[in-house]
Amino acid sequence: VDPSLDLVQEILRLKKEKNAVILAHYYQDAEIQDLADYIGDSLGLSQQAAKTDADVIVFAGVHFMAETAKILSPEKKVLLPDLKAGCSLSDSCPPHLFAKFKEQYPDHLVITYVNCTAELKALSDIVCTSSNAVQIVESLPADQKIIFGPDRNLGDYVKKKTGRDLVLWNGACMVHEIFSREKIEKLRAEYPGAKFIAHPECEEHILAEADYIGSTSGMLKFTIEDQASTYIVATESGIIHQMQKASPHKTFIPAPPNNACACNDCPHMKLNTLEKLYNCMKYELPEIILPEDVIHRAQKPIERMLEISA
Ligand code: 13P
Ligand code: SF4
Repeated sequence: VDPSLDLVQEILRLKKEKNAVILAHYYQDAEIQDLADYIGDSLGLSQQAAKTDADVIVFAGVHFMAETAKILSPEKKVLLPDLKAGCSLSDSCPPHLFAKFKEQYPDHLVITYVNCTAELKALSDIVCTSSNAVQIVESLPADQKIIFGPDRNLGDYVKKKTGRDLVLWNGACMVHEIFSREKIEKLRAEYPGAKFIAHPECEEHILAEADYIGSTSGMLKFTIEDQASTYIVATESGIIHQMQKASPHKTFIPAPPNNACACNDCPHMKLNTLEKLYNCMKYELPEIILPEDVIHRAQKPIERMLEISA
């Protein structure tokens, strides 16, 4: 890329020229969030992808999110700045192994967390996100047997909230499993008025400490409506940009990881850069391409989720 180019201006120009919409997740770099048309959590982003009238969806997020957008809007071109922007949680559940796992429970309904491949969604009955997982489980009859995957931490959290006995797949996110309870407790002692907020992908012993548990949008909303002046935030650090923007007078501290080599940045989300975003809009590559039968089979479980959370 020509270093003299004003990338932000160029991206905005290409957006107009190609009738594109830029959807960004809260874990993206601040400069990407700041030029997006919509920033949100996984549910909000999929709702936007389903209703946009743009010709091109540029997804500043990770692969499974762009796939979900493609499944919901198959006639549109969906671009992802870096195809290698994957997800450790999605990787922890290979579809062929999940299909075998599912065979052991033939009378169970399958709910999959949206952080999974399109192929896995195609093997499910309903998809959910962190903001509607409890609602979706509760929308089913009390005696309905359920398999929940791939995130065991979110699964445990939903089990606790609903009192249902879910069969869990043993997957997890590398970013949400780094937090140290001991260090969080120390930090709380240092900032006695601070609230501790956490994403449900965190481990059970971390969630046990939390004043609020919710999706990224839920956490952001909580920090806006709540009265505390300091928050310790246990999720990917990108969300702090919006928290700080919405409440400039408040202090946000990323929850400390358990060792010095770990950090709260998602290495997959952070693969996207302004330069890659520009290139992908200019050349309309890389594009998300999915087999038609996968799109067809994955559509129903996602649409079922959107109906329940409408
Ligand atoms: P939400 O933004 O839907 O809470 O999901 C967080 C996440 O881990 C995305 O990878
Ligand atoms: Fe996946 Fe975790 Fe990154 Fe979210 S934060 S995209 S769950 S690896």
